[in-house]
Amino acid sequence: MTVNLPAGNRDTAFLDRPDALDVDRNSRGHVAFGYGTHQCLGQSLARMELQVALPTLLRRLPGLRLAVPLEELRLRHDMAVYGVRELPVAW
Ligand code: HEM
Repeated sequence: MTVNLPAGNRDTAFLDRPDALDVDRNSRGHVAFGYGTHQCLGQSLARMELQVALPTLLRRLPGLRLAVPLEELRLRHDMAVYGVRELPVAW
């Protein structure tokens, strides 16, 4: 059996406005790291890396911005984890 984790994180029975970016949202219970026996073993490391990397990036490159219009970003749909094919940036 497989479970579509991105769909689980967008279940409107679970949270309101799932497609809105809301950094203040109570995010407890999401399934971005899976669930159960095969839940991500690296999730603590991943959280720590993001807590260090994102503020460092924004502090060191305060002018960081997209180098192309948002509409031109190509999304990839061919993997379980959602993402962009390329992310051209300037600073
Ligand atoms: C934001 C970063 C990450 C995300 C979103 C993520 C997501 C996931 C997800 C959804 C699964 C479950 C797959 C399944 O149900 O079969 C998983 C499993 C796993 N992840 Fe991650 N992961 C991240 C980072 C990492 C890192 C940094 C490591 C190790 C250094 C790691 C190691 C693993 C391992 C070993 C498993 C397999 C666990 C098992 O099958 O028992 N992950 N990850």
